[in-house]
Amino acid sequence: MSAPLTVITGASGGIGQAIVAQLAAPGVRFALIGRNEERLNAAKTVAEAAGATVLIGRLDVAADDIGGWLAMASDNAPIARVYANAGLSAGPRSPAELESAADTQRLIDANLTGAISTVRACVPAMRERGGQIVIVSSVAGLLPLPDLAVYAATKAALVAYAHAIRPRLARQKIGVTVVCPGFVDSPMSRRHHGAKPFLVSAEKGAAAIIKAGERNKRTAVFPLPFAALVAVERFAPGWLRDKGRSLFDAEIDRE
Ligand SMILES: NC(=O)c1ccc[n+]([C@@H]2O[C@H](COP(=O)([O-])OP(=O)(O)OC[C@H]3O[C@@H](n4cnc5c(N)ncnc54)[C@H](OP(=O)(O)O)[C@@H]3O)[C@@H](O)[C@H]2O)c1
Repeated sequence: MSAPLTVITGASGGIGQAIVAQLAAPGVRFALIGRNEERLNAAKTVAEAAGATVLIGRLDVAADDIGGWLAMASDNAPIARVYANAGLSAGPRSPAELESAADTQRLIDANLTGAISTVRACVPAMRERGGQIVIVSSVAGLLPLPDLAVYAATKAALVAYAHAIRPRLARQKIGVTVVCPGFVDSPMSRRHHGAKPFLVSAEKGAAAIIKAGERNKRTAVFPLPFAALVAVERFAPGWLRDKGRSLFDAEIDRE
């Protein structure tokens, strides 16, 4: 029987590449999923240099058959860890507008459908031995911001999804962690022009995501000041919460 797989979507992105670099070790077998071939190959090179073996899947998580590819490329290997990390951000074209219909659909497809499809595709190969699913949401899913409304809605939905599937999968020894990062330095956050308090490096972000999964945490919010803000924000009056949102006004460049 082949070594169990660690599946990482968005492995071509800033956080995904950092997760790969930190988990790479002899005996680790990755399935790295993304669309950009060059950046996927960069992640592969780093992983192989650390002694890991790598399967590369150039897939659109929202549209392609992830389960079919995993079964074929890995010869039905069991899956031990899944990082449903692929995602994209977009905002309205001006402060007076809402997100366009096209951007709304793109965000829902990649962030929500993509993560749910990833989980659904991996669970059958985790059932026999158990394992850990880590879903990468965002602080924006807990503290939704006007310039990231649809993005925030997709990330809030992922929090709901993770909490909903956890009891059922726990009976199959599959843990589910949902991680809500604040600002992490990556190509995505570099397109975000506005205040980015408590920005952490992709390496720190990846370490926090990995640690949360290893501890089978239900929800992990980082860095600490955002965890504190999430904890106290619900006690503030609505007008103050709405006013506080304006501190985070931003423009998001197109990819
Ligand atoms: N950076 C932050 O401040 C921050 C904060 C909170 C949460 N997050 C979340 O963290 C995750 C990783 O983001 P990042 O900062 O590393 O951004 P990034 O550098 O832009 O990487 C995004 C990754 O998602 C992949 N992706 C997007 N849509 C996809 C699709 N339809 N099919 C397959 N892959 C797709 C990209 O693949 P290709 O490039 O190959 O297309 C890329 O690997 C995202 O879910 C994001 O929402 C980020």
